[in-house]
Amino acid sequence: MAKADRFLRACRREAVDTTPIWLMRQAGRFLPEYRALRQRHGFLEMVKTPELACEVTLQPLERFDLDAAIVFADILPLLEVMGLKLEFTPGDGPVIHNPIRSAADVGALATPAVEETLGFTLEAVRLVRRQLAGKAPLIGFSGAPFTLACYAIEGGGSKDFRLAKQFMHREPAAWYQLMDKLARMVGAYLKAQVAAGAQAIQLFDSWVGALSPYDFRESVLPHLRRALQIARTGCEQDVPLIYFSTDTAGLLPLFRETSADVIGVDWRMDLADAWAALGPGVAIQGNLDPHLLLSPVPAIERQAGRILDSVAGRPGHIFNLGHGVLKETPMEHVQALVDFVHRYPRPAVAQS
Ligand code: CP3
Repeated sequence: MAKADRFLRACRREAVDTTPIWLMRQAGRFLPEYRALRQRHGFLEMVKTPELACEVTLQPLERFDLDAAIVFADILPLLEVMGLKLEFTPGDGPVIHNPIRSAADVGALATPAVEETLGFTLEAVRLVRRQLAGKAPLIGFSGAPFTLACYAIEGGGSKDFRLAKQFMHREPAAWYQLMDKLARMVGAYLKAQVAAGAQAIQLFDSWVGALSPYDFRESVLPHLRRALQIARTGCEQDVPLIYFSTDTAGLLPLFRETSADVIGVDWRMDLADAWAALGPGVAIQGNLDPHLLLSPVPAIERQAGRILDSVAGRPGHIFNLGHGVLKETPMEHVQALVDFVHRYPRPAVAQS
């Protein structure tokens, strides 16, 4: 089997020679070569310069035997092109200077053509595909409508998303309009990334675990389905869609209804239990606690082995962390994890 096919085959639950692995946030701050570039350029400047974004996307693949690349970009420029004033402040992370606080604010949000406004990432996708020349598949991504709505309303990160939840319950019509605008933008953005050459796409819904199953089903799921449906219409190839979120044990059974091909889960739940809750017909991605990569190699291997044993070679597992790689992570530990996953013996029964 060509090494380059492993990840896409696993997304489709086809048999693979060994478990594919990539890491969320692999293109980023844990790499010295990323930090060196970052000394000379601002973060958003790097995202918006296709040549730099391409270089950063390829950096982790030059060092490690990863089974997929993920385009270097961020989930928040999509809010910027809709009219929100985004800034990355050193230390504090992202800040939106004019957050959404009223129905009128939602009404004023623009929904411009993504080719004209987010073209820098589409161009980065084209450049990366050309440079990868088939050696590894490329993942495109977007934030999911709920997580983007949280940033838009809170104006930055939040512990409990109280403003976003209040808005959802106090202004149901405006919430619907906001989620509808976001779903259309996200759908168009994903579709454009596929047209530019992305071979799989991941939706990051990092904060959706803050919701009750009822609120997820009523106020989020229809918009998520809409975004994925738009992304898929007119796609010639069958591009796998990965839906990632954290802290969502109580929502997993509902995730089948998103129509995603792969569900990404964090470490707060055993992978086997998560897969049982999801049922058949879906692939799974995860789920080593990123903090383990700060631990000695034998501890990393023990826990990676535990995860692989729990999957028992069932087709449709993509190894990943349960959330992004931490910036303090030593290179050798990533190397050890990638090698360990690739060398791990697969049970013969599950190969068929
Ligand atoms: O996975 C990858 O390697 C691709 C690149 C990528 C970045 N952000 C680059 C980045 C991806 C997939 C993201 C997704 C993203 N961005 C999410 C969803 C995933 C998650 O972590 O929950 C969110 C919530 C964001 C928003 C965001 N961007 C925050 C909150 C921050 C600040 C905190 C932090 O981790 O630095 C960012 C900045 C960011 N995005 C950096 C990188 C490499 C660091 C910027 C720097 O160099 O200072």
